[in-house]
Amino acid sequence: MLVVVWVFLLSVLCLSPSTCDRQCPCESQELCQPIAGEKDFEVFVFDVGKKAWKSYDWTQVTTVAAFGKYDAELMCYAHSKGARLVLKGDVPLSDIVDPANRTVWIAEKVDLAKKQFMDGINIDIEQAVAEASPEYYALTALVKESTETFHREIPGSQVSFDVAWSPKCIDKRCYNYAAIAEACDLLFVMSYDEQSQIWGDCIAMANAPTNQTFIAYDDYITMKINPRKLVMGVPWYGYDYPCLNFSQEGVCTMTKVPFRGAPCSDAAGRQIPYSIMMKQVNNSMSGRLWDAVQQAPYYSYKDKDGMVHQVWYDDPQSISYKASFVSTRGLRGIGMWNGNLLDYSDDPVARQQTEDMWNALKPNQEKEL
Ligand SMILES: *[C@@H]1O[C@H](CO)[C@@H](O)[C@H](O)[C@H]1NC(C)=O
Ligand SMILES: *[C@@H]1O[C@H](CO)[C@@H](O)[C@H](O)[C@H]1NC(C)=O
Ligand SMILES: *[C@@H]1O[C@H](CO)[C@@H](O)[C@H](O)[C@H]1NC(C)=O
Ligand SMILES: *[C@@H]1O[C@H](CO)[C@@H](O)[C@H](O)[C@H]1NC(C)=O
Repeated sequence: MLVVVWVFLLSVLCLSPSTCDRQCPCESQELCQPIAGEKDFEVFVFDVGKKAWKSYDWTQVTTVAAFGKYDAELMCYAHSKGARLVLKGDVPLSDIVDPANRTVWIAEKVDLAKKQFMDGINIDIEQAVAEASPEYYALTALVKESTETFHREIPGSQVSFDVAWSPKCIDKRCYNYAAIAEACDLLFVMSYDEQSQIWGDCIAMANAPTNQTFIAYDDYITMKINPRKLVMGVPWYGYDYPCLNFSQEGVCTMTKVPFRGAPCSDAAGRQIPYSIMMKQVNNSMSGRLWDAVQQAPYYSYKDKDGMVHQVWYDDPQSISYKASFVSTRGLRGIGMWNGNLLDYSDDPVARQQTEDMWNALKPNQEKEL
């Protein structure tokens, strides 16, 4: 009897097939509408799951890339703030060299986005690709076809693509950057992990040295990529390097861990969240220091075995410089990997630090620090 009633109810609710397989989970039906229209300034947030998003600064957020489990509550909330929620897209490039397989992959993603009332896709393919290889052409075609399909199937949707901090075949990612930029709505430039290939002295250095970061944007722009297509990604994490040798001057020599052809890399270190570093820095050997050349903060500490570690990171000071560059260079916006890495607890010191990190994203806010 119960079953019969249930089936009856379902059939009443599902008068049209489109509402049947797409039940809007939000309190109001409008919140399931895709977000359309372009924001003047993008604040692009990667979210890796759980509920930290509830504490984000939604006065700023324009796009959230859902890299964690799908959360319908986040979708409804983002839409209530006029922000997009986009899928993550990743696929082994060898699987999509065949155009038919490519089309199938894209169709699956569009279906998933529709079913989840999402507003596009962030394509995060960080694979090594040789110039003029079949994968090189397939990747550009994938981005182009994804953009066309998403725009057609979900009007107003956004297709973005993640690129390395520099277009110069970083980590052997020799992509057709100009064509990819042309083919999608925006490039998220991952201006971090800039020590993934160290060719000189194998010493600990900044995750995203300011100068090197800026020069790389000019490299993208010189390739005739419109600055309005570039969103600057900043790290909300740092690297902790154990020092094989720690010199009088505070230079930390690290273990040589090769990466994609380079003899030394940041793989010798460990990525750590801003929230953890903020609990460590005041009690460290050095306290917070500032490297004037790389324009980045760092500190050194001794672990329980007496080994010295050096930690390089970004904080409101270094991020403010980057946000100013975004503004003066006329880039599309700013974003971070990732939104979850701050301390969203009620502790008053943590609250202030977290607020300062969000505020540092605002352009033209070069603060006295
Ligand atoms: C491409 O699609 C064909 C036909 O569906 C399938 O048999 C094949 O396994 C796919 N290739 C890859 C690499 O996914
Ligand atoms: C450590 O650095 C000092 C100079 O700062 C050097 O004399 C010494 O050989 C280094 N030790 C190792 C193990 O590299
Ligand atoms: C660390 O020191 C700074 C600067 O003196 C201070 O503002 C901050 O509250 C301290 N952090 C913690 C966790 O005590
Ligand atoms: C930044 O790079 C430019 C060009 O390589 C150089 O002239 C300048 O001195 C650098 N600035 C800093 C602070 O290192």
